[in-house]
Amino acid sequence: MKRVLFNVASAVLLLLAFGPGLALAKDKIVLGFSQVGAESEWRTANTQSIKDAAAKEGITLKFSDAQQKQENQIKAIRSFIAQRVDVIAFSPVVETGWEPVLREAKRAGIPVVLTDRSVSVKDESLWVSFLGSDFVEEGRRAAKWLVDYAPVKELAAKGEVNIVELQGTVGSAPAIDRKKGFEEILKNQPKFKIIRSQTGDFTRAKGKEVMEAFLKAEGKKINVLYAHNDDMAIGAIQAIEEAGLKPGKDIVIVSIDAVKGAFEAMIAGKLNCSVECSPLLGPQLMSIVKDVVAGKPVPRRIVTEEGVFPQETAAKEFPNRKY
Ligand code: AHR
Repeated sequence: MKRVLFNVASAVLLLLAFGPGLALAKDKIVLGFSQVGAESEWRTANTQSIKDAAAKEGITLKFSDAQQKQENQIKAIRSFIAQRVDVIAFSPVVETGWEPVLREAKRAGIPVVLTDRSVSVKDESLWVSFLGSDFVEEGRRAAKWLVDYAPVKELAAKGEVNIVELQGTVGSAPAIDRKKGFEEILKNQPKFKIIRSQTGDFTRAKGKEVMEAFLKAEGKKINVLYAHNDDMAIGAIQAIEEAGLKPGKDIVIVSIDAVKGAFEAMIAGKLNCSVECSPLLGPQLMSIVKDVVAGKPVPRRIVTEEGVFPQETAAKEFPNRKY
């Protein structure tokens, strides 16, 4: 009897000591986030933005890096479902193949928020909100800048403008859409020809490797490089220099993201323009997550506001860059 009384007293003491903390911990929102990987400067900034915003909002973040593999993202989402997190958010590495796992999340009653990249699914009720850039518009902006760029206009007046394209990850929304937007503008420009187009998987190393192959095959015929992200452009710049050519002069370069590395390359005269794609999605994501948990309506689509930074604006803009 003495022993029972002692155990009850210890339980009460434990509750008094940790009770408030336990209650608080239970009240905290738990967010499971599956990130694409760490393939680019953009991605690193995006991860940091999400981690910082979660910490600031007191949201418990379960973060998983998929190393650019869809199967890893599917595993991570299943594990978030098993852990019964409050909300799942993810940036899908590719567009297709998500129905089964998203149906599992829906059956478990866990809302899914898409960030940065979208999915292509028939049943649109499988996700509640999509926050990120308009990648088609980014492709259009890159092409519009290009056709208006004076040295390229001069080239077009004399003959053809030969473009090589470094695509992002095969099957990913930004690779598909940035190609689409770029081609949409160029279809009215008969002098502009995409003579080679290949994936560089959004990485510097692959961007360099593929540019080396382009240079081997086409050499001085190349007038323009369109890279779906800055990292691939930076890798390609190295390949162009190693081939004895001047990036930004012998080959005009336009890429997407507007990360600090691109600004440095522009200031050095090696990159001609970077179209902005903001990775700073953390604060907006956390606000959507809080609203979803509170049962408030959330916008189906939030498009990030972005600009275009030609080389001549780089030095002035550089000190303001946050990523
Ligand atoms: O989905 C956004 C893209 O993914 C960024 O443009 C690129 O740098 C990243 O890897």
